[in-house]
Amino acid sequence: MAAPGKLVVLADEAALARAVAAYFIATALDAIAARGRFDVALSGGSTPKAVYALLAAPLAETALTWSRVRFFFGDERCVPPDDPESNYKTARDGLLEPLGIDATQVFRMHGEVEPAVAARDYAAVLRAELGPAPVFDLVMLGMGPDGHTASLFPGTDPLTDDDALVRAPWVEKFSTYRITLTPRVINAARTVAIAAGGAAKAAALHEVREGTYDPTVHPIQIVNPHDGELIWFVDEAAAGALSHPV
Ligand code: 6PG
Repeated sequence: MAAPGKLVVLADEAALARAVAAYFIATALDAIAARGRFDVALSGGSTPKAVYALLAAPLAETALTWSRVRFFFGDERCVPPDDPESNYKTARDGLLEPLGIDATQVFRMHGEVEPAVAARDYAAVLRAELGPAPVFDLVMLGMGPDGHTASLFPGTDPLTDDDALVRAPWVEKFSTYRITLTPRVINAARTVAIAAGGAAKAAALHEVREGTYDPTVHPIQIVNPHDGELIWFVDEAAAGALSHPV
């Protein structure tokens, strides 16, 4: 089965960041023009840092009205918001504060509270802000070397396609809970953009896009928006093991 989504291969991680930042802005402009606002779920990990730096830079040519953007999160570590591990802290320091984003535009997952409570509360936030069947304009995702995405890890229960919007799975490899959007929410998005760079992702990218379909082994394979667009941004190092790079 051909892997879903368009694959864009960039020369290196700097070009990857530029492409993702440009796609973020283009998607935002389209959403604001069409619906008056842009609802985005930010990804975690380190890949977004270079994208944030580009988005937060004084890009004179960007006609993006940041006050029309609402920032949500695809997943969060179960840590306080000032913890270096916090995905919210990464976004706050690299993007939200530099852009002067008002706190009313930011909806963070509360990693500091009991995980199941944090998941339940965030699902309530999604329903309140986006309705009973939340639809993001853009869900940004990364991919781990094991084929995980958001906090959908091999062997965790978020792969069950029930009516949950947010879950708090126990992640054995890290011996910790995480908070994550479920595939139900991710695949309802208008657009999903996956960014993966570096040789460390090459084996997983090959298995995910050219190997056997089994989301219990490679959870990111479950990402396939029902009506939306899926686009993969990778660099040549990450694409190094692909038989068919495009
Ligand atoms: C997290 C992320 C996770 C991340 C991948 C890639 O909280 O860690 O949501 O899914 O996107 O692990 O991480 P890097 O960008 O650091 O390689």
